[in-house]
Amino acid sequence: MCGIVGYVGEKRAAPILLDGLQKLEYRGYDSAGIAVFDGKILHIVKKKGRVKELEPARALRGNCGIGHTRWATHGAPSEKNAHPHTYRKFTLVHNGIIENAHILREECLSRGEIFSSETDSEVIAHLISDCYEGNFAAAVCEASKRLQGSFALAVLFGDCPGTIVCARRHSPLVVGREKGGLFVASDVPAIAAEGVEIFSLGDGEFAALHAGEIQFFDEDLRPVLPHPVEYSCKEDAPALGGYRHFMRKEMSEIPAVLRKNSVDFLSNSQFSAFCEVLCHAEYIQIVACGTAYHAGLCAAYAFEKICRVPCEVSIASEYRYRDPIVPQNTVCFAVSQSGETADTLAAAQIAREKGAFLAAVTNVAYSSLTRISDAVLLTNAGREVAVAATKSFNAQLMLLYGVAAFLATKKGREVPPLAELPQAAAGALEVSEEVRGWTAHFLSAKSVFFLGRGADYFTALEGSLKLKEITYLPSEGYPAGELKHGTLALIEKNTPVVAVVTQRELAEKTMNAVHEVYARGAKIFLVTRFEELRARKEVFASVLLPACPEEFSPAVAVIPLQALAYYLSLARGNDPDKPRNLAKSVTVE
Ligand code: F6R
Repeated sequence: MCGIVGYVGEKRAAPILLDGLQKLEYRGYDSAGIAVFDGKILHIVKKKGRVKELEPARALRGNCGIGHTRWATHGAPSEKNAHPHTYRKFTLVHNGIIENAHILREECLSRGEIFSSETDSEVIAHLISDCYEGNFAAAVCEASKRLQGSFALAVLFGDCPGTIVCARRHSPLVVGREKGGLFVASDVPAIAAEGVEIFSLGDGEFAALHAGEIQFFDEDLRPVLPHPVEYSCKEDAPALGGYRHFMRKEMSEIPAVLRKNSVDFLSNSQFSAFCEVLCHAEYIQIVACGTAYHAGLCAAYAFEKICRVPCEVSIASEYRYRDPIVPQNTVCFAVSQSGETADTLAAAQIAREKGAFLAAVTNVAYSSLTRISDAVLLTNAGREVAVAATKSFNAQLMLLYGVAAFLATKKGREVPPLAELPQAAAGALEVSEEVRGWTAHFLSAKSVFFLGRGADYFTALEGSLKLKEITYLPSEGYPAGELKHGTLALIEKNTPVVAVVTQRELAEKTMNAVHEVYARGAKIFLVTRFEELRARKEVFASVLLPACPEEFSPAVAVIPLQALAYYLSLARGNDPDKPRNLAKSVTVE
């Protein structure tokens, strides 16, 4: 992951780098650094921790520089391992993973070269220096040929103080141009502003930023055409708007986001080509990671239940290495909030190469995923700042449920009323405040369990993931009926168990499991839409969800679980927006 930014032009570089890095902190925030040329000297400032630690460097003079915010892969989060890294006259920032770094490092060491960090990135500076024969860009190209893995690079060279050379393979990078200045960044928001034209760098391409001009090259230094990116400056200025944290604010937007994603695929001509293919689909595959994978599981449940089309959901990092079978007439949905998740991109590409029609379900119109897909379904959830996904999950569900509703209609099958979801979500948000009172019972827990059956099982999985990522409490989402096959052994006196019960036919079955854990001392917290279950003796506390179609209930039932994670995270003194060890966009394998 990591975030890269660079600037060369008429303005002072340091403020541009620091402001850009702030906007890229969602990509990692364990250490940060900048390097700025003041005409004579290259000043490098690095700090462990967040970008704000670099604030004193804002005063640095100089019009050319690069910056980095890190999510550690090779080497612990520390000042020493923070970027930029320098070898001789070359200084660089890197996003990605160099898989043959250990071999290359050994080679360098055998030549007597000295390393000052444990990172895989530093070896790139060594290679560039070793490849340099008088042409800066050529040295970066040559060095890149020796790298295995993924990289986005911005490189400075002591002998060319007004030039930045950039390169990318499997990691995103964009460059920008305004009157009097040039930029490079991992993502558009870092450099987006009125008057800035932005271009994405193609996979395997290079760019040289110098004297107001950007030159684009392929791997053999042949000129290539730029790929302009359309973007709007307006959409990228999220503010807290009175909330303490983005996560809570983003949850409050869920009803509106569901409304925005109520797409009528029957009448919307924008999707006619996609709908045509979908109508002939014999098989559906969904690839995704994390929360998006859970959205995929919920969607697959709806596809099978209401459309009766077989649907398989895969964790993208598994799909990509298992030589997947893609039957004829397969539509593959790649679900990704960011559209940049490396594993999802790779899995999507494989599905497409094997003949699937690839539909992207993403929140970012100019993402790498949109560029490789046959159809793009934008979730229009607005930018999600909190690392823990909330509104984007609900948005993905609404859009995919809309697709399922369309397909079911085409097949002459009954379609549950999807339009009820935004209202039900608003009701769920209201009752979610009640879970604040639950947190005291979770604070000293060794582990937490979330149980459910059918669609509720997927809600349980997502509730558990949210809890883990922002409270750091061990937690498991479990199919209620499977507990007795081993996991029940973990239940102790006062172990918090959250049971999700929204499926009429399965309600009593889930309550059997509730009874089993209660009998072993667990404390039961119920999230249900059945009033009568709340009075059962096993139930310690409960929230009552508004009614909504059972097939689509995860879009509503997940809300109290998101709230539970949020309030528990606060109670444990964590920052729910920026959990430890994580980043919003996972652009490495
Ligand atoms: C969890 C979370 C992650 C992401 C996962 C995929 O709250 O945010 O699990 O869902 O990293 O990210 P995208 O959707 O950007 O592909």
